[in-house]
Amino acid sequence: MNIIILDGVLFVASVLLIVGLRKLSNPDSASNGNILAAVALGLGVLVALVYPLETQSNNYLYIGIGFFVGGTIGLISAKKVPMTAMPEMVSLFNGFGGLSAALISLVWMVNNHLSGEANELGIVLLNLFLGLVAFIGSMVAYGKLSGSLKDDQLKIPFSTVLNIIILLIAIGSIGVFSYNGYLSTSQTILFCVLSLLYGVTFVAPIGGADMPVVIASLNALTGITAAISGIITDNKLMLLGGVLVGSSGIILTLLMCKAMNRPVLSVFFGNFSSTTGTANQVEGNAKEISASNLAIQLAYSQRVCIIPGYGMAVAQAQKIVKELEEILEKKDVEFKYAIHPVAGRMPGHMNVLLAEADVSYDKLLDLDEANSYLESTDVAIVVGANDVVNPSALDDPSSKIYGMPILKLASTSNVIVLKRSMNPGYAGIQNPLFFKDNTKMLFGDAKKSIEILLKELKNV
Ligand code: TAP
Repeated sequence: MNIIILDGVLFVASVLLIVGLRKLSNPDSASNGNILAAVALGLGVLVALVYPLETQSNNYLYIGIGFFVGGTIGLISAKKVPMTAMPEMVSLFNGFGGLSAALISLVWMVNNHLSGEANELGIVLLNLFLGLVAFIGSMVAYGKLSGSLKDDQLKIPFSTVLNIIILLIAIGSIGVFSYNGYLSTSQTILFCVLSLLYGVTFVAPIGGADMPVVIASLNALTGITAAISGIITDNKLMLLGGVLVGSSGIILTLLMCKAMNRPVLSVFFGNFSSTTGTANQVEGNAKEISASNLAIQLAYSQRVCIIPGYGMAVAQAQKIVKELEEILEKKDVEFKYAIHPVAGRMPGHMNVLLAEADVSYDKLLDLDEANSYLESTDVAIVVGANDVVNPSALDDPSSKIYGMPILKLASTSNVIVLKRSMNPGYAGIQNPLFFKDNTKMLFGDAKKSIEILLKELKNV
């Protein structure tokens, strides 16, 4: 097929991809956007399959095997994975993106007998480094998100110094090898080991509430490696997709750093939390409330605000929360949702859940809007959130999460916390909010508690 036609198809695919991604920013158009982006990537795969016929021999057997094995694993795992395991799944996919980019670099190097022009070899080695860091870093992040790797299992002594040293050696090696225009097989293996080591020392020391920053930066790294792979393989769609993912990943990293109040520059040196995180003792008694008393309180309120967190995802309580919204609005109660940027386990987690329940976007308040709204709210209902409402972040310099902006509930008249026990959240620290005078606990699975609450509300 004529190269001009193939380039034309790639151009159409690029436009579809950009329009598709743009549509993802609105819940109403998101599913169409998803389909457009998938069609664009499908066209990209087709063009990539046809392209080699014009220039060199084909490898359709290998491609077919990869397509079949990868496609089957992807399809089965996408169908089987529960919604609550989505963040880990996204981490895995991100890691495999990085690994693919690293393999593209290795194949280029093998085809070119481990040598090349300084600029070519430099870019290929940079891609190899970033791809392997994104791969192994995402695997560590997967372990941390799934709970199979605990923060203290991966304690690396002097991790910040070690990170800086490994990073400098890696950058120096890329410079020297590209200047020489050649590296030996053993140097290639050592370079790969160094890259993998940096991936581990970069992600391992960061844990607890700081994970969102790592996830966003790994996402940016994979995007950048996809873009570089697009340059190496001369695939314009891969370049464009990589640039889009890389740049949105960088923007997300900056937003997450802002959300966690962590310095951007320290991200790649790891362990940027300045506290020891030793404090975890909270004294006092938590008070409980019954669903029937809460129903009465809600029915006579003017403003109610839901604060969703990871527990809402676990309980799959988003639809029942929407029913609560409808019932209270019929009683002329103003109803809003306060969304913390790192609530849940992946960026935009709460927005996705609430969109699935058809909650209108104009009812969602971002952190700053929510904090001023919560000052005049009659009842704030915390649905499975914990770290994002933990006041230690504001007033306890020894806390692991000190400095992280939170949803502030000190001035809210009544705070009701829906959770199953007094167990801590992801950061593993107790929450003094539960012992405050204005706070009461409604223990149980969030979905079941709200189901009972709705029955009680019908009798009020
Ligand atoms: P968490 O602090 O993790 O707290 C969730 C709470 O939900 C837990 O205390 C748990 O208490 C409760 N819960 C669990 N299942 C429940 C159920 N079925 N019904 C009712 N409650 C339930 O959540 P958060 O406030 O959303 O904060 C998110 C945390 O994860 C932050 O530390 C954040 O940094 C971190 N993180 C975020 C991301 C992204 S990108 N968003 C990624 C990685 C990590 P019980 O067990 O007592 O029920």
